[in-house]
Amino acid sequence: MIDRRAFLEKSALLSALGFVPRALTLEEYERDVVGASVSPAAGFRGRPCVVASANGIQGVKLAYDRIVGGTDALDAIIAGVNLVELDPDDQSVGLGGLPNENGVVQLDASCMHGPTRRAGAVGCLEEIATPSLVAKAVMDYTTHVLLVGPGAKKFALAMGFKTQNLLTERSRQDWLRWKSRLNKNDNWLDHDDDVKINWTHGTINMNAVNASGDVSSVTTTSGLAWKLDGRLGDSPIHGAGQYTDNAIGAAGSTGLGEMNIKACGGFLTVEFMRNGATPEQAALKTLERMVHMTEARMLDDKGRPRYDIQVYAVAKDGRYGSATMYDGASFAVCDERGPRLEKCAYLHKAAERPR
Ligand code: GLY
Repeated sequence: MIDRRAFLEKSALLSALGFVPRALTLEEYERDVVGASVSPAAGFRGRPCVVASANGIQGVKLAYDRIVGGTDALDAIIAGVNLVELDPDDQSVGLGGLPNENGVVQLDASCMHGPTRRAGAVGCLEEIATPSLVAKAVMDYTTHVLLVGPGAKKFALAMGFKTQNLLTERSRQDWLRWKSRLNKNDNWLDHDDDVKINWTHGTINMNAVNASGDVSSVTTTSGLAWKLDGRLGDSPIHGAGQYTDNAIGAAGSTGLGEMNIKACGGFLTVEFMRNGATPEQAALKTLERMVHMTEARMLDDKGRPRYDIQVYAVAKDGRYGSATMYDGASFAVCDERGPRLEKCAYLHKAAERPR
């Protein structure tokens, strides 16, 4: 690979001499700019690995077993996240997700398929429990990459997806408690048996590579609880909630999506890996960039973020890593050693978290 400076100097010299630049061939682009081939060389033997947010601990095992059995990596990880989308007890994803401010569950998801360089996504999708599958259908059956709102639902129905009420009784009760406590002077009474809701955002991101070095990623979420009607987070945005470049690896995130969108976290993590960082180093550097891109109201007086985000990454050769803003979070991984939770690297100790 030639370095960027040499490349620019060479281009400037050639242009000064009157040479008209020509477009690089795909092979030249991959060799000189991307730094690796998108299509693994014949005989490449990698190390299958699936990495996800901690709520994917069952999903990473399912996905890994399928990948080893020959299933396409994207199909395998979508099956992995479907477990969580269909779990009514996970209030951050799919069925049972916490609703928006009007009590309506609106789901976001996106996916990327490395070997074919394709992508799909849906946003603000209502009444369909598995937005990851609808995102894949957008990728498989349309020339588009992102469908949102009523159009996304109309598409899902045309593809044969069935509607259902996604607002579980538990999430409805939590929403009512939040609503009743918004304003002391409104007509909703505050009840003594109210429980505190400890978190308001979740999500599942899952990334995988197979033995041939083919990479894929998917992220699915009900987004920020009590969000404004129509709010999209990072999960349906390629390059933010997840990103795959089959030449390098994949990355995605969970946490407060607004902060990730501004840093293009999925894309940036893969770019850091392209430039030589390990997956864990890349995840940490992406978190630093997010802090750098954070507006003052979301930072304390020492410049520490008033929010949390986790980044997960897998490299084409099967290395993996994850990082979080504040110590304490874990991530799920499955490889030849089996499924397990590991501690995320972190930027700050838990005790430094702003109160
Ligand atoms: N990361 C999920 C969201 O902010 O919607």
